[in-house]
Amino acid sequence: MAKAKRQYVCQNCGSATYRWQGQCTDCGEWNTLVEEAAETVFSAKHDLSRGGRALALETLDAHSVMPERMLCGIAEFDRALGGGFVAGSATLIGGDPGIGKSTLLLQAAGRLAKGGRSVVYISGEEAAAQVRLRAQRLGLGDAAVALASATSVRDILATLDGFGEGRGADFVVIDSIQTMHSDLIDSAPGTVSQVRASAQELIRYAKDSGAAIVLVGHVTKDGTIAGPRVLEHMVDTVLSFEGERSHQYRILRAVKNRFGGTDEIGVFAMGEEGLGEVANPSSLFLTDRSRDVPGSVVFPALEGTRPVLVEVQALTVRLASGATPRRAVVGWDSGRLAMVLAVLEARCGLQMGAAEVYLNIAGGYRLTDPAADLAVAAALISAFSERPVPADAIVFGELSLSGEVRPVAHDALRLREAAKLGFSKGWGPKGLKAVNGIGVTGFARLGELVD
Ligand code: TYD
Ligand code: MG
Repeated sequence: MAKAKRQYVCQNCGSATYRWQGQCTDCGEWNTLVEEAAETVFSAKHDLSRGGRALALETLDAHSVMPERMLCGIAEFDRALGGGFVAGSATLIGGDPGIGKSTLLLQAAGRLAKGGRSVVYISGEEAAAQVRLRAQRLGLGDAAVALASATSVRDILATLDGFGEGRGADFVVIDSIQTMHSDLIDSAPGTVSQVRASAQELIRYAKDSGAAIVLVGHVTKDGTIAGPRVLEHMVDTVLSFEGERSHQYRILRAVKNRFGGTDEIGVFAMGEEGLGEVANPSSLFLTDRSRDVPGSVVFPALEGTRPVLVEVQALTVRLASGATPRRAVVGWDSGRLAMVLAVLEARCGLQMGAAEVYLNIAGGYRLTDPAADLAVAAALISAFSERPVPADAIVFGELSLSGEVRPVAHDALRLREAAKLGFSKGWGPKGLKAVNGIGVTGFARLGELVD
């Protein structure tokens, strides 16, 4: 009897080999190869050019109905989705363990149920009693959410088919896709082929029935959703739920959205009563800021199209001896800090090389906006010279290696947000225009800021 073919599939990138190896030859990750059943391969005898059915082709200008949108009533969630859940679509939401994915989806499920939608919440990780307790704690004990603890996709689909006297569900949560199990595939739950097969079946259910389905996905240590990359291709929308567990705030970001833009974010704060919406994120990151301290600068970051004011803090310590100075960064790229330090040293004559430098973005926020260069430089200069930047000023601009201050996108938006929060000075690239009573100072070169 022929031995069933086995293969080893990398759980990180999904590539397959017939021999076990310690390191994946495709993505270079270690210890990610897991034995899985080989997929059926048809021989070349099967000729695809015959036996097919001609497709009915359509035109672009034909009339089509917009898919129905379901607003869950949590404005920050609806905003990140580009205007609510779409009926018949699949959404994947990824995030670190304990960040609040289950809490957020339970809250959304509860709100939709209270709004008259038929809602099913399947947990593969927690017992129904645990989910019920959490719902009661969140004040959703009376929401008509149908709850089950299950991992078999076959059982789940059977349940959904007959749900609500055959009416079907409007909204289905699967928490999480890594715990789901399809009995067609002979591999453990969580492996690439299981995740892919289970997701395929659940997504097909959504398309056929018109339900909006949400799959919770675990993330690997480098922040991508565990399982094959194809999972992200299979769904219509990919959301990422981010934040530091030690801090309250969480950001829900659309990474992919077939029904809307990916530049909107939702901001939440984790509290006693679950995730609360934060309509004004700037106030969250700027709370208890001490005034007129050297090294503290407020930067208007952009998250998609939303400005968020964050505080950049710098500390420099001059070393007497020739010891190697430390450089530590929290919330920003250390390579970019090295660049700003080099520009300050080479173009502005500040002797930063002999000083220890610490940089922190307050509130556990992670800055990725290149316009932060000038704010960081200002914080460093201020710390180094021990002269505070005015507490009512915001600073932004990109730096080039030659020490020029470059214009950045959406400067008016940044200034308007600052004006709303009571700031009255804007320091930025040359050519900045005053907005809403904010006085602006433009710098062409970093040297002018130092002076
Ligand atoms: P959870 O939604 O279980 O995270 P995930 O599904 O992403 O793994 O969130 C769990 C964390 O949230 C847990 O550490 C406790 C905290 N939490 C609160 O602070 N307040 C609350 O009201 C709830 C329900 C959870
Ligand atoms: Mg969970």
